Amino acid sequence: MAFLKRTHTCGALRPEHSGEEVILNGWVQRNRDLGGLIFIDVRDRYGLTQAVVLPDAGEQLVNAARGLHAEYVIALRGTVRLRENPNPNIPTGLIEVLVNELEVLNAADTPPFEIEDNVRAGEELRLRYRYNDLRRPAMQRIFDIRNQVYQAAHKYFNELNFLEFETPVLMKSTPEGARDFLVPSRVHHGSFYALPQSPQIYKQLLMVAGMDRYMQIVKCFRDEALRADRQPEFTQIDVEMSFVDQDDVLEVTEGFIAQTWREVAGVELPRPFPRMSYADAMSRYGTDKPDTRYGLELTTVSEIVAKSGFKVFSGAVESGGIVALLNAKGCAAYSRKQIDVLTEHAKKYGAKGLAWMKFNPDGVQSPIAKFLDDDTIAALREAAGAEEGDLLLFGAGPDEATYTVLGALRSEIARQTGVLAKLDGVFNPLFITDWPLLEYDEETGRYIAKHHPFTQPHEDDVATMLDNPGAARAVAYDLVINGHEAAGGSIRIHRKEVQDKMFKLLNIDEHEAQEKFGFLLDALRYGAPPHGGIAFGLDRMVMLLAGTDNIRDVIAFPKTTSFLSLMDGAPSNVSEEQLRELGIQLRTKAAKSTDEDAA
Ligand code: AMO
Ligand code: AMP
Repeated sequence: MAFLKRTHTCGALRPEHSGEEVILNGWVQRNRDLGGLIFIDVRDRYGLTQAVVLPDAGEQLVNAARGLHAEYVIALRGTVRLRENPNPNIPTGLIEVLVNELEVLNAADTPPFEIEDNVRAGEELRLRYRYNDLRRPAMQRIFDIRNQVYQAAHKYFNELNFLEFETPVLMKSTPEGARDFLVPSRVHHGSFYALPQSPQIYKQLLMVAGMDRYMQIVKCFRDEALRADRQPEFTQIDVEMSFVDQDDVLEVTEGFIAQTWREVAGVELPRPFPRMSYADAMSRYGTDKPDTRYGLELTTVSEIVAKSGFKVFSGAVESGGIVALLNAKGCAAYSRKQIDVLTEHAKKYGAKGLAWMKFNPDGVQSPIAKFLDDDTIAALREAAGAEEGDLLLFGAGPDEATYTVLGALRSEIARQTGVLAKLDGVFNPLFITDWPLLEYDEETGRYIAKHHPFTQPHEDDVATMLDNPGAARAVAYDLVINGHEAAGGSIRIHRKEVQDKMFKLLNIDEHEAQEKFGFLLDALRYGAPPHGGIAFGLDRMVMLLAGTDNIRDVIAFPKTTSFLSLMDGAPSNVSEEQLRELGIQLRTKAAKSTDEDAA
C-alpha cells in the first residue's frame, strides 16, 4: 500500500524550512474550521505541527480537511511558511504547513478520553485503553527517559567490563521474601517452575563460574502484598562483582547513578554520596529510606522522661522501649481537629496514641503537661530545639515501631506544611548501611533474613550471631534517593561453613537447605570467590527522573494495585483442555471459563 511517506517528523520544522515542500505523517490532534481557513494540528512522538488548508485549495481538499476527526491517522503534503500568529509555547510554533494534498491513512473512533496532558479521565479508563493513553506527550516523554536509562546502563557497565547475561525465567524458586509466581509443567505433572523474584542465585553462580562482572536488565516477578508503589513484575538493573568489598560495590553504584543523573536529567549529584547506618536512619528519620531533602529530624528523649510522672512514657522506657519526639516546626497553631487527624494517621502506623505539646506565646499547652514538671518540659524543649510556635509530637513504645510512627508523621508534616512541594528537582542520594542481618517474624515465630539468606554477616558479629541473632548486622546496603529505595544489595557469603551457620539461624535444617539451595551450596564448595552486588529498581529510577509518584506511569503496560491488567484482562481463566494437559484440577470452580467468554 503506497502512501505519502513523511519527509520530516511533526517536531522538526523550523523557520529555516520556509518555502520547502514537506510531507508529515501523524495523528490529528484537532482541526478547526475558522470560516474558511481550516487548521489541522498533526501530532507524532516528536511534536505537534500546525497545518492549514485555504478556502480556495479546491473543494476536494477542503472537504477532506473538514471530514477529519481527532486521532485520524493522516499524511499531508504542503509548503512550510512562517505563521502570522506564532505560538511561542511549542518548538514548531513559528511555522505552519500550507497543505496541498491530504490523505487519510486510517479513520479512528472517538477516543475514550482526550489525548492531552491534562487528561480528565480516571486511571482505570486510561489503563483499559493504554495505547491511547501512551500517545499523550507526557507519557511519551517518560518512555524517552526510560530508554535513556537503559542506554546509560548498557554504556556504563560495558565500559567497566561487565558482561551482560540472560538468566532463566523458568527456574526453581529463589527466596527473596515474597511469594513466587508458579508455572505448571506440562511434561512433568505436579512439578512447577517459579518465575524469578530476582536472578540472585544465578548471578552468584556466574561469579563461581569466573565471569567476574555480571549485569542484566531483567524482569523480576513477586507475588507481594498489594501496595501502591509495587508491581508484581518490575525491572531491575542487576549487578554482581567478584573480589570486591562493600566500598567497591558502592563506588560502582555511585558512579552509575551520578552518570545517569548527569546524562538524563542534566543534574550533577553531590559526591561522595553520604552514608548512614540503618540504626541512625531509624532513630533520626523513623524509616530505613529517609528523604533527607528536609530536616524535621526525630529526637529520642527516653532519658529525660524515664522518671516522669506520665506512665505512658516511663512505662515505655521501663519495658525496654523508647520515647521520641518530632518537632513540627511552626505548627503550634494546629487546631484540635488537625491534631486528631494526625493522631488517626499515627494510629494507622500502629501508634497507641499521640501525645503533643504546643509552645504558645502564653505558655505551654499539652494534655500531658500536668504529668511533667517544669524542668522536664524545659529539657524537652531544649532537646527538641523548640521555639515559640512549635508543636511537639511524641511517640512511646518499642523502638522500631515508635520511630516508624514518628517517621510517618514527619513526612505528613512535610507535606502539610508545604516543605515537600518546594523540593521538586532536588535529589538527595544516600547509602543506608549496616542493616540487621535478621528480622523476627511474628507470624512463624522465627528469624528470617532481612535481605536474603546469602548475605554476609558483619565480620564482628559472625562469632556471636547464633547467641544474639537480633543484634547481628549484615554487610548489606540500600541506595535511597528522596525517600525511595532505588537499589539494594549485599556482599554474599562465599564460604560454605558460614552459609551453613546462616541456615541454622534461619531454622532451615540441612535437608531443607539441600533440597532448596543444594545447587548453590554445592557451588560454594568448588571455589567461590568473595563476591557481592546490587540491584537497581529501574522503575523507581525512572519515577525519580520523570518526577512521578505513580509506578504505573513508568511501565508501558502495568498492572493495577490489585494486579489486574485492565487492557487484556489478565489474569484470565483457561480452558478445561489446557488444565487437563497440565494435570491440574481446580479446587475452587473458576468464576467463568474462557470457553464461555468465547461463546
Ligand atoms: P531487592 O529485593 O532489594 O534486592 O530489589 C532491588 C530493587 O528493586 C526494586 N524493587 C521493586 N520495584 C518495583 N516493584 C517491586 N515490587 C519491587 N521490589 C523491589 C527496588 C529495590 O531496591 N537480589 C537482590 C539484589 C542484590 O542483593 O543484589 C534484590 O532483588 O528499587
Ligand atoms: P492517656 O493518658 O492514655 O489519655 O494519654 C494521654 C496522651 O498520651 C494522649 O494524648 C494520648 O494520645 C497519648 N498517648 C497514649 N499512648 C501513647 C503512646 N504510646 N505514644 C505517644 N502518645 C501516647
